[in-house]
Amino acid sequence: MTTVSPRPAGTGAPLRFPPGFVFGAATAAYQIEGAVAAGGRTPSIWDVFAHTPGRVAGGDTGDVADDHYHRFREDVALMAELGLRSYRFSVSWPRITPGVSASRLGPVSAEGLAFYSELVDALLAAGITPAVTLYHWDLPQALEDAGGWANRATAERFAEYAGVVAGALGDRVGLFTTLNEPWCSAFLGYASGVHAPGRTEPAGALAAVHHLNLAHGLGAAAVRRAAPSARIALTLNLAWVRPETDSVLDADAARRVDGLQNRLFLDPTLHGRYPADVLADTAAVTDWAFIRPGDTELVRGPLDVLGVNYYSPTPVRHWTRERPRETADGHGDGAATPWLCCDDVEFPRRSGPRTDMGWGIDPRGLAELLRRVAAERPDLELMVTENGAAFPDTVTPDGRVLDPDRVAYLRAHLAAVHDAVASGARVSAYYVWSLLDNFEWAWGYAKRFGIVHVDYATLRRTPKSSALYYADVIRAGAVTP
Ligand code: FCB
Repeated sequence: MTTVSPRPAGTGAPLRFPPGFVFGAATAAYQIEGAVAAGGRTPSIWDVFAHTPGRVAGGDTGDVADDHYHRFREDVALMAELGLRSYRFSVSWPRITPGVSASRLGPVSAEGLAFYSELVDALLAAGITPAVTLYHWDLPQALEDAGGWANRATAERFAEYAGVVAGALGDRVGLFTTLNEPWCSAFLGYASGVHAPGRTEPAGALAAVHHLNLAHGLGAAAVRRAAPSARIALTLNLAWVRPETDSVLDADAARRVDGLQNRLFLDPTLHGRYPADVLADTAAVTDWAFIRPGDTELVRGPLDVLGVNYYSPTPVRHWTRERPRETADGHGDGAATPWLCCDDVEFPRRSGPRTDMGWGIDPRGLAELLRRVAAERPDLELMVTENGAAFPDTVTPDGRVLDPDRVAYLRAHLAAVHDAVASGARVSAYYVWSLLDNFEWAWGYAKRFGIVHVDYATLRRTPKSSALYYADVIRAGAVTP
């Protein structure tokens, strides 16, 4: 038998992306901004959570983070140097309406809006297209005190806030994403409690699912009214669910995980209906009576773009209870499970390469998910709004930052995006997560996702080898597998 030795990565024929394909990088407000009290900003659920002992690794908080609030001009210059075509960032809701309550939005902070307005102007001056996310997890704490996402009023206030931001920036911003990864907000925030607000209330988590979907629909309509020419997006972290075998039991485990992570968000927002099997699976937890007549039409608001965030595959199998359960689903061990009504499902830890988060690496999942949503809604434009990896970096004595594992990860996943495009999926953009090392939620600063290294003692930024690699990809408009 002859064996063919694998060709070294980076020596294949270049895979060219279509002209106009957008290469960008993404961040989120609480993870990079710092300056948590500037301009009268009030606490978000993440400020309170991070300041609660035991919630975040190392007791880290976003108080300073990357101090992007004060250094944004330097960061925009860095993006320009790397040749980024677009920058996806989020707006911190408590900067915009610091006095919001469940019953009223309260006054709009001119200083809060001015920060984002200046950021947008700086980006445009550098030839970088801004892409705004309205909610990346930093709910004003006052709304959480009134029930948070388990309370319908939060969705109504969100829509008002979305209209304010779109009204202020819509003359210069062409893409507004309502929510980032509502699965995490609902299930990690209200079921497993590993994310803010840290609640472990299964019924509350399912109410949060619906109110997040409603917030998307109402928010999208508000953006459309305030900025009629802007495109509207929703970003989901879809799971590429892989049953271990083709047994009936493994298939059912896959159906349930797909239902909770994918269809509970895709079906209402893309099709205006909830998946009947998931409502039935969870009937012991809630009767879903918080879905009011007419809600599903509101949830299916205007939508131009679906953002897909992808990091790792989701292998599942039926759990027989004969051995300890494996829970390697990448979402951390909380006091409770985010997987409601899945007591006989487990997430096996497969062999093979992993990132510093312990997440498995399989770029095929990205192509498969893009093809799935393209088949489901061929009219929608798709974007990869996050993809990237945490790895420990090597800082050399002469100050360079070497991250060959991240280069390999990006190369393989960019090739997967190309594969999806080549098979007809309408993917228009790819955003690497993340521009900068930053506050990685419950992991604090312990996990580094940036293509730009941040020295947390000095806040000095240093592009890693992956940033230089990505700059080459952008220049060539092609990835060499
Ligand atoms: C996603 C989040 C993003 C970042 C990456 C690693 O779930 O949207 O903020 O934490 O994971």
